[in-house]
Amino acid sequence: MSLRLGDKAPNFKAKTTEGEIDFYEFLGDSWGVLFSHPADFTPVCTTELGRTALLKEEFAKRNVKVLAVSVDGLEQHHGWVKDINETQNCNVDFPIIADESREVATLYDMIHPNASATATVRSLFVIGPDKAVKLMITYPASTGRNFFEVLRVIDSLQLTANHSVSTPADWQNGEEVIISPAIPTEDAVKKFPKGVKEVKPYLRYTPVP
Ligand code: BEZ
Repeated sequence: MSLRLGDKAPNFKAKTTEGEIDFYEFLGDSWGVLFSHPADFTPVCTTELGRTALLKEEFAKRNVKVLAVSVDGLEQHHGWVKDINETQNCNVDFPIIADESREVATLYDMIHPNASATATVRSLFVIGPDKAVKLMITYPASTGRNFFEVLRVIDSLQLTANHSVSTPADWQNGEEVIISPAIPTEDAVKKFPKGVKEVKPYLRYTPVP
């Protein structure tokens, strides 16, 4: 059965380029990004893993651990990592799961048979410290994901987890946020001392709390 937002992310044990892991132990209290790739030694995937490695500090700042999945074996993964590091000018040091049995791909519904019978699509899951699924995106093999967008959504998820706000279209960290419609304006002015801008009774902005 496919996962939905709010579901518990399934745990698993797996062989990875950084040794054997238990997913939950690997995550600890951190946020997680689990993302799949159609295959090793493929061009778009090479750029995606390179970009992720180059954004290491950005993920670390947000307390996010990243973990990639590909259905190829460990030996291939290690050879591919060398190519990624060489061509993308990076150092891939996050685990890449060797999911030859497709256990993880199946648990996370990463194989979409009408796209490819055997390869994983570009699935990406953000998992919260409570191990619940917070974000799911699915791209076809032909389109590389935008990892700046992944970071942007994580910023929104982390902010909205702690405050009664939402983030508007195209929001970037630092920009005004939207106050939850459940909070009456007279309470909102106390709760958000940086200011409340009322455009409509249901559309009220405040600076990032
Ligand atoms: C790629 O990563 O470039 C790719 C992988 C599978 C199918 C198409 C493209």
